[in-house]
Amino acid sequence: MNTASAVRAPRGGQSPILSIKGLSKRFGGVAAVDDVSLDVFPRETLAIIGPNGAGKTTFYNLLSGRMKPTSGTIMFDERDITGMPAHRISRLGVSRSFQINNIFNEMTVLENVEVAVTAYRGDSRRWLNLASRNRRVRDEAFELLARLSLSGLADRRAGVISYGDKRLVEIAVVLATRPHLVLLDEPTAGMTPDETQRVMALVRSLAADGDYTFLVTEHDMQVVFGLADRILVMHRGRRLVLGSPQEVRAHPDVRKAYLGDEDEEIAP
Ligand SMILES: Nc1ncnc2c1ncn2[C@@H]1O[C@H](COP(=O)(O)OP(=O)(O)O)[C@@H](O)[C@H]1O
Ligand SMILES: [Mg+2]
Repeated sequence: MNTASAVRAPRGGQSPILSIKGLSKRFGGVAAVDDVSLDVFPRETLAIIGPNGAGKTTFYNLLSGRMKPTSGTIMFDERDITGMPAHRISRLGVSRSFQINNIFNEMTVLENVEVAVTAYRGDSRRWLNLASRNRRVRDEAFELLARLSLSGLADRRAGVISYGDKRLVEIAVVLATRPHLVLLDEPTAGMTPDETQRVMALVRSLAADGDYTFLVTEHDMQVVFGLADRILVMHRGRRLVLGSPQEVRAHPDVRKAYLGDEDEEIAP
């Protein structure tokens, strides 16, 4: 349990960074996301859980602009981003990691992060040369790598590092764009326990002292309960339960609908 979150979680009068109302996405007869309303507050970490097919990835696709909703509205930072194209939403500060790797294998780890830092600065002129000359870009990239304990891999080609390290580099790339809202889709899937710990430590430290709000989908309940200020449980596209980790853990519907197995433990 993240005790610091108990201090951070109450937010009387604070306006949400993300405000979703009646959000739905249909694929033919299937409501992948079904009338979901939700407010997310600055600097909180909200975990989204639910069985396969619950609608988590579709929910991210709607928030990041990859898909347009069938109905409902999405406000980010008091701006209506419903149906906006992905590149505009990303420019506004919503960044997303993917379940698949999204980095350049031929470049070094450092170059991958430098490209992202430079791209964020909006300089399109021969960016790679520029980046290599620009000490500030390099420093920023190094600092991100250090935060992820990746400094030792800075000069390795991204194509040859381990799967877990690639996913960590991908998170560094996401953070290099200085997002305010970060959507992590199963960030620790396929990672070793050590790599999982590194991701958790990073998210915790960024949530504690940075201007970051995280949405995290995750199957690993230790990660969910170790990171989340609040948890949204989705089931068949709907918002089943939204509450503190304690509330979610105690909720009878969660065990029934999410686990589908009375004997299984939802948390350590
Ligand atoms: N592009 C798509 N076309 C048709 N059906 C889809 C598409 N994407 C997702 N679905 C359906 O929407 C539902 C929710 O899927 P998804 O968002 O991937 O859930 P989760 O990420 O929670 O596993 C599932 O029934 C899935 O089959
Ligand atoms: Mg998914």
